Amino acid sequence: MSEIRKLNHHIPEWNYLEEYHCYLLERVLYCERPSVPSQQCMNIFVPDVYLNEDGTVRGDGGLNGFDASSVPVIFENGLAGYMEAEPFGIEDPRSAAKDFLQAGFVYVSCGCRGRSSVDEKQKRCGKSPASLVDLKAGIRFLKHHRGVIPGNMDRIVSVGISAGGAMSTLLGTTGNSRNYEVELAAIGAVMTETDDIFAAQCYCPIIDLEHADMAYEWMFQGKTHYDGMLFVGFPEGDLTPFCQALSGGLGRAYISYLNGLKLVHPETGEAVEIGEGHTGSGSEYLLRKLEASAAKFLGKLERGELPLACSASDYINGTYVEQKFHPWKKCMTEIPGLDKSSWLSWDGQKAKIAGIEAMQENYLRRLKLCPAFDDLNLIQAENQEFGTPENDRVHFNSDLIRILEELAVQFPEETAKYLPEYQKMTGDEELDRRKYLLNPMNYIGTEEEADMAPHFRIRVGSRDADTSATITMTLALALKQTGKTDVDYEIVWDEPHGRADYPGEVTAWVKEICQ
Ligand code: DHB
Repeated sequence: MSEIRKLNHHIPEWNYLEEYHCYLLERVLYCERPSVPSQQCMNIFVPDVYLNEDGTVRGDGGLNGFDASSVPVIFENGLAGYMEAEPFGIEDPRSAAKDFLQAGFVYVSCGCRGRSSVDEKQKRCGKSPASLVDLKAGIRFLKHHRGVIPGNMDRIVSVGISAGGAMSTLLGTTGNSRNYEVELAAIGAVMTETDDIFAAQCYCPIIDLEHADMAYEWMFQGKTHYDGMLFVGFPEGDLTPFCQALSGGLGRAYISYLNGLKLVHPETGEAVEIGEGHTGSGSEYLLRKLEASAAKFLGKLERGELPLACSASDYINGTYVEQKFHPWKKCMTEIPGLDKSSWLSWDGQKAKIAGIEAMQENYLRRLKLCPAFDDLNLIQAENQEFGTPENDRVHFNSDLIRILEELAVQFPEETAKYLPEYQKMTGDEELDRRKYLLNPMNYIGTEEEADMAPHFRIRVGSRDADTSATITMTLALALKQTGKTDVDYEIVWDEPHGRADYPGEVTAWVKEICQ
């Protein structure tokens, strides 16, 4: 009998983690034909009130008004940079297991294949949409074991950051879509179960990859210096004249794309549109969200609710020192305060930001090259995500073909060098399909038949320059506009790309939506 059907009402393999008062079922395969078993598996953590020592579900235990059949199930994925991820252990700093367990929820860390996964024969097997297919299989597996694994499988809350946030968004938008069935059947997912979820927590999701290049150039228009990303392999530098021209073409193209989405302001119903130079109601909307974010932060600062201890005016003037954990040095470091007084002000109630451009001078700086995602030399994560078993890295943004063609007269050498590589994607229907399957925007307010999660929570840092802030803004507005889901969308002040949140808010949200 295959592994997937093995779980029965008596699961002796649960390990008790005394320090955390929970049981752990480790590295459970969730599909019958995994090509990378170490990735296509999950760790399941259950508060001890919900299990007996022999691994049977407790009927009597309860916590926070939940019992073993009603307690929400957190489903966190660890995808980062679109790279494959094994499930997290409880001590893993990338995991929020401790917070969710402390709040009394069942916590599942689900592994999945990613852009550089290879099978036992060293064949590439993790390209789009493999990560999403794996996570859907994980959801189906959990539903298949309702009553055996504690937790309400109709209250699954997906959590992910960045590429993982993209997966969380996709799990929330593509529920039960038939578009993934062939791939699900191929890995041996449970085909008799559904894969829609109750809620999606999306942190800094890197989505809408076909339009992310455009969005980036609209957001950082006129900014020619980039700070670089050493772990991707490029240090800081300046855009060449050719890349500056490319940036102009991409940024202009984004204006028609965003305005074509026909988004409306959720309160006023007015059209949300953008223009050149960060103009238009969409830019205003973004600015208001940023101001609300700063106001929330400054209010907390004044009330002494933040680790940072200084006055609001010291914060604005940069006359403070911040203690921050350094991810590489793995110790606390002192970071001098940043002078924000030329663009940020506060009257004790409301924050005012002079403009997106002013904020970008020293606070929200350009990080990436141009193009930021479909890189000229195929170095970005997304180039590898859309590769194939035969061709590890490919181009995928077909709009770049037209924009590069327009530059042929002014930049003959560069276009001769790069354009033919981009033209290779023309007519590649399989690439088009794999792009489509990885873009949640295709499932929001369209004809696609899929079951939308009724709750979304979207958080993005005010200092996140891994993608344009308009990417999350358009996601939130498009979701709201469907009328099928409630959307809690905020920008979290001073947070970079990552788990941008205030302590305790996400667990409070889960409790609230599951009441
Ligand atoms: C991630 C970050 C990126 O800048 C990107 O392009 C894709 C993914 C990440 O952190 O997962």
